[in-house]
Amino acid sequence: MNALKTFNRYLLWFANEHVDFRLAEIQAILELYKIKAKWLEKPSPKPYWLVELPNENDAIQIASRSVTMRYIIELWGGATSMEDLHTELKSMPESKILQYCEEHLSFKVKVECYGNSQTAAEKVEKIDTFNYLPLKGKVKLKNPDVTFNLIEYWGMEPNNLPSKPYNVFFGRLIAHGQRDLITELSLKTRKFIGNTSMNSQLSLIMANQAKVQPGDLVFDPFVGSGSLLVAAAYYGAYVLGSDIDYLMLHGKTKQSRKQTRDKPRVDESIFENMKQYKCQNRYVDVVVADAALPPWRSSLVLDAIITDMPYGIRESAETIGSTKIQDGKHVVPENEIHIPSKIEYDFSKMLEDLFKFSLTHLKVGGRLVTWLPVLLCDYDPNELPMHRCLNLVSNCEQKLSTFTSRRLLTYEKIKEPELHEVGAFTVSYGAAFREKFYRHAQKLQKERAENRHNNREIVLSLSEP
Ligand SMILES: C[S@@+](CC[C@H](N)C(=O)[O-])C[C@H]1O[C@@H](n2cnc3c(N)ncnc32)[C@H](O)[C@@H]1O
Repeated sequence: MNALKTFNRYLLWFANEHVDFRLAEIQAILELYKIKAKWLEKPSPKPYWLVELPNENDAIQIASRSVTMRYIIELWGGATSMEDLHTELKSMPESKILQYCEEHLSFKVKVECYGNSQTAAEKVEKIDTFNYLPLKGKVKLKNPDVTFNLIEYWGMEPNNLPSKPYNVFFGRLIAHGQRDLITELSLKTRKFIGNTSMNSQLSLIMANQAKVQPGDLVFDPFVGSGSLLVAAAYYGAYVLGSDIDYLMLHGKTKQSRKQTRDKPRVDESIFENMKQYKCQNRYVDVVVADAALPPWRSSLVLDAIITDMPYGIRESAETIGSTKIQDGKHVVPENEIHIPSKIEYDFSKMLEDLFKFSLTHLKVGGRLVTWLPVLLCDYDPNELPMHRCLNLVSNCEQKLSTFTSRRLLTYEKIKEPELHEVGAFTVSYGAAFREKFYRHAQKLQKERAENRHNNREIVLSLSEP
């Protein structure tokens, strides 16, 4: 029997991290590989999703890209009690499973218990209850030929545990997701990093949401230390970037790693990072340029733009300009070496420039993936930057503090804009994030000081005889 046609129900098991990013990542991967998936349950914050896929190769392709997913199994049975799970497995035609049970195939059964803990002895006891399966091979704990997964789901409230798991599943491991890449590309061991380098996990998620594939041309207009380009190049894209900071692009800023702060900086550049990950043949270049004044000819066509603009908190957001305006113009001295002065780059203007740039340079079907910092008390999903040619595909949240978060926005260019639609486009994002951030932080500080003062008064009044 054709192994690929045996089953078509799969269980995706996720890491307990960046929960809000799962759906956008998986959907982008499904689109990238043109996989027709049918959800058997609506995707939710649960650690598992059940899906019907046309064949096993599709499951393997999902696993080959996903970093939010730990592994994917071919589902042999799923029930709300162990008894029902056994009944389901026992009623399965043997012809479906015999090919995985042959004598020459070593195997192991792995028990996953979400929301509760189990001792090794309890796990072994549970594994023994599956002894009716016609497994003839040897048990091998390291690198067996076949791995079976028994999963118990005890819910999301560890302080309110049910008497038995809500769901139990059994299946055959198809493939692991790309969690190992997070360590392989980790900033901890990367040659060149900056203060605001994006960690490897989020960089990979961004590249996935951008549907980056081999041969694409991917651009980051706020490239910094190039972390986003590393992920894109790793997935086979040719990468190009720009940044206003000459010192950053030349590896001459202050060392970000404390322990090497006094050592000379050698081998530190985006190119060296690319070499570190064997992606140097896909590195086009980086240039010093202001994102407000892009130096690119209009014929440049990009498959994706992935970027993280400066929020003005940990790095400056600057654009070329001057406060010394004469007759409404900034006068640049002629015939002199001129190092342009800079002024603050307002976040709304930055977003607007990024949108205009994307409208001009993205191919139709290409994606813009970018972050938007927000104050939680201020966030309104109806006020996100929108354009009729850029379809907002996903909006995922990463909490940053008790009062801030950032949203990863993914847009897809759905048509070419008319000329007037690019020029006249404006983004209204209210006051600059930096201003709002400091205003709010000060307000919170004041409130906390007042609370502390009031509490002290209460304690004093209670302790008075
Ligand atoms: C959040 S950091 C990007 C970090 C980058 N993703 C990384 O992983 O290293 C923002 C970058 O934008 C740059 N920048 C600020 N204003 C700019 C401008 N007008 N044009 C281009 N880059 C700018 C800063 O120098 C900084 O490197």
